[in-house]
Amino acid sequence: MNQKTFTSASDIQEIFDCIAPEYDRLNDRLSLGQHRIWKAMTVKWSNPNLGDTALDVCCGSGDLAFMLAQKVGISGKVVGLDFSSRQLAIAVHKQERRSQQLPLEWIEGDALALPFGNNYFDCATMGYGLRNVTNIPLSLQELHRVLKPGAKAAILDFHRPEQAYIRAFQQWYLDNIVVPTAREFKMMEQYAYLAPSLAKFPQGKEQVRLAFEVGFKQANHYPLIGGMMGVLVLSK
Ligand SMILES: C[S@@+](CC[C@H](N)C(=O)[O-])C[C@H]1O[C@@H](n2cnc3c(N)ncnc32)[C@H](O)[C@@H]1O
Repeated sequence: MNQKTFTSASDIQEIFDCIAPEYDRLNDRLSLGQHRIWKAMTVKWSNPNLGDTALDVCCGSGDLAFMLAQKVGISGKVVGLDFSSRQLAIAVHKQERRSQQLPLEWIEGDALALPFGNNYFDCATMGYGLRNVTNIPLSLQELHRVLKPGAKAAILDFHRPEQAYIRAFQQWYLDNIVVPTAREFKMMEQYAYLAPSLAKFPQGKEQVRLAFEVGFKQANHYPLIGGMMGVLVLSK
């Protein structure tokens, strides 16, 4: 059987549109709920304050945007941006189900051409988005452009561990837990894309180098759970 390769932006958009209805449930199941902790850490590292204008790029179904909204409060504003209309529809639905009023706005747009002026946001997050964009330097450049001087961004994603045995565990987990679980949800083809996308994703040090290249003043990559995940923390 020919394995479909997902390389273009429209392929990536199609994957995330297709998995939207099951995306949250799969995330909880595949990470045993841990993704919520990593996302909370990411939000903290982006340094949101009451009244801030915050951005969540590649927001998907909106987990990080909801967490940012709690931090900036009703006097602030959070924009969740994604190019998958079906992921955004789930985010809107989640917002409608909450009784609490939240300062959220959802925008269908491209992380590689952010529809905002320069120096607009006080902080930003990106969860599992950088690995999926088709041009990582351009995505970092756009993020840098829309942040105010001194603002922080925190970018959470998978990472390949340095240590061979943790790396072997990660590969085993992808092959034996992620793909079969995705098969159960009838989304095997979409999740088979995860391993190749990770294989070509720059390691932490390289992410830091790319961030400096587009003009960030500070850049640090913090490995999580033995380096299987990581957060790139940036200051403009
Ligand atoms: C793995 S999901 C992450 C969703 C969410 N941030 C989370 O952590 O659960 C990656 C998201 O990136 C979005 N995405 C990928 N490339 C994009 C681009 N160029 N512009 C906007 N969104 C993009 C996809 O549509 C998808 O919703």
